[in-house]
Amino acid sequence: MISIIGAGRVGSSAAAMMMVYEVDKEITIVDIVEGLPQGEALDLSHAAAILGKDVKIKGSNNYEDIKGSDIVVITAGLPRKPGMTREELAAKNAEIVSGIAENVKKYAPNSIVLITTNPLDVMVAVLYNKLKFPRNRVIGFSGVLDSRRMAFYASQYIGISTSAITPLVLGQHGENMYPVPELSMVYGKSLKSFLTEEQYSKVVKDTIEAGAVITNLRKFSSNWGPGAGLTLMVEAIKKDRKTAMEASVLLDGEYGIKGTFAEVPVILGKNGVEKIIEVDLTEEQKEKFKKSIEAIKNNLKQVPESYLK
Ligand code: APR
Repeated sequence: MISIIGAGRVGSSAAAMMMVYEVDKEITIVDIVEGLPQGEALDLSHAAAILGKDVKIKGSNNYEDIKGSDIVVITAGLPRKPGMTREELAAKNAEIVSGIAENVKKYAPNSIVLITTNPLDVMVAVLYNKLKFPRNRVIGFSGVLDSRRMAFYASQYIGISTSAITPLVLGQHGENMYPVPELSMVYGKSLKSFLTEEQYSKVVKDTIEAGAVITNLRKFSSNWGPGAGLTLMVEAIKKDRKTAMEASVLLDGEYGIKGTFAEVPVILGKNGVEKIIEVDLTEEQKEKFKKSIEAIKNNLKQVPESYLK
């Protein structure tokens, strides 16, 4: 069973895509708002009936209903409002995430836990510290989103499918992320070599600003990208695909970094993070990655230390 905590825009988009992809026979959606997860579940059940998908979708206000989940996806929290930085959300969302972590620990102690709550790099650290699960079972979302967004922007210039690109974005999910078109590949050829200098700069800028652009346009933050990315991650774990994509994981010496969650390429399979792929970086690239890590460490200061112990 997959449990999704948060029946808001991200949670319900993820549930819808997971149903369409039939990643599991059962999806349970939990939210604190009475009626909301039940209503979403009923509507999605009707959609499943229309599409002929045999997926049971249940809505609940009770954490006990996540018992037996092999994967828990946390999408609960306050979303980013226009003009608000991800970091400003930190204090409020840390409280929500740590409360949810207690329930996950209690009712789904063997699950693999994914989280989208922003600011992502801080919330995944809060989650990890509260859960005390091994690092392969605590995974921050957004690497898949940031990297595929970069593939999208680049593909617009070079007229190839996004699926032809293996995009690399490192570090923070936020203004200090480090998109690396020079190490993003189309087979053995660097993505950078397809782009003019101007296009290269635009691709990097658009990737970093993608989330903010969506929020400014429609006045609420992204949900379809997260829904799609979560579906891909859950499918990889559930079906033990051992496929490569990016995620925010706890580094323990990889890239010379220890004790910080950051976006890197990983292999996802039935054990969650099965492998962290260490891309060879030049000294200059290492410096840029380190700067992004510094930004993450700075963000961690925005939540009271008690959340990180
Ligand atoms: N337990 C369960 N659900 C909760 C809790 C909680 N303790 N606290 C809040 N929620 C629910 C809200 O009731 C709401 O339905 O989380 C849901 C959040 O939904 P939205 O407000 O629609 O936010 P959404 O766009 O889905 O984003 C959720 O993911 O991408 C990030 O920045 C985004 O942090 C935000 C999160």
